[in-house]
Amino acid sequence: MEEKIKSLEDDLDKELFSFEKDKNEVKSLHELELLENKYLGKKSFISQTLKNINDFPQHMKPLIGKTVNETRKNIENDIKLIKDNFIKLEYDKKLREEKFDLTLPGRCLEHGSKNIISQVIEEIQDIFVGLGYEIAEGPEVETDYYNFEALNHPPDHPARSLHDTFFISDNILLRTHTSPVQIRYMEKHKPPVYIIAPGKVYRKDYDITHTPMFTQIEGLAVDNNINFGNLKWTLETFAHSIFGKDRTVRFRPHYFPFTEPSAEVDVSCNICKGNGCRVCSGTGWLEILGAGMVDPNLYKFVDYDPEAVNGFAFGMGIERIAMLKYGIDDLRIFFENDIRFLKQF
Ligand code: DAH
Repeated sequence: MEEKIKSLEDDLDKELFSFEKDKNEVKSLHELELLENKYLGKKSFISQTLKNINDFPQHMKPLIGKTVNETRKNIENDIKLIKDNFIKLEYDKKLREEKFDLTLPGRCLEHGSKNIISQVIEEIQDIFVGLGYEIAEGPEVETDYYNFEALNHPPDHPARSLHDTFFISDNILLRTHTSPVQIRYMEKHKPPVYIIAPGKVYRKDYDITHTPMFTQIEGLAVDNNINFGNLKWTLETFAHSIFGKDRTVRFRPHYFPFTEPSAEVDVSCNICKGNGCRVCSGTGWLEILGAGMVDPNLYKFVDYDPEAVNGFAFGMGIERIAMLKYGIDDLRIFFENDIRFLKQF
């Protein structure tokens, strides 16, 4: 029996020796698992010995159990040490790889900004609100009556062909200007009237200075003692606010069906200071808007007494004002939504 124990002890020594050798070869947690299985798993020498402990006489069992368990404990401890070491190494590696650089700037959300056209509309609104004007609105889908007829363009009036109109039906169209708001407002309000009306308008046109949709601001002042001098002062004040006090304003006689007399209004070119250059086509002047005294004929359409009231009106293209103000030479970029363009304002 003594021999049997001796030989068991030898076998356990061999097992331990082999384990010592194998454990130095282990390079990963996975390999460690295989090692654990080999020396402590169900088919390992140690497990099998403990399983077959009944082959030994009863009085030897405690000694054998103790001897085998000691070896098992040694192997277990070693495996645990190696495992802890691997886990720590892996954790360190992860930390190194995932290192945070606290000095890096954060990713910031891009903030949008107001479109340049909206900004110019607001600036113009501010100027006129400061002069006591109210803001009015009208529909973009209009009837022939408001867009043309009530603005003094009878059905066969030649001025109708000035507008390349988008017709929806014979009678319904996309408004070609903001002037119909004049009629709509006067229909509903008695004088005195001081309004500006910003909005989108539509014409069949497309080149570097025309787009099928663009923006206008209409102005209308109707009271009982209004003269051309008031119109001049108002538009000069406006032009100086938006372009600067150093600019000169001039009125050129013109024709509009709904104003009489009518004028086109220019500001002096600030690039050549009035000497003539490419931007102003050599004239020294830049056209900014159309204006005039309200044709008394319009008052008949809105039930005002032409003998008792008079007024002036004006209309301007916002994109054109923005182009002149910021030196932009192609109208189309306002609508292309190129972020590099929009970001500059
Ligand atoms: N409605 C005109 C246009 O679109 C602009 C205009 C000219 C408006 C003279 C006015 C005005 O109110 O008096 O071309």
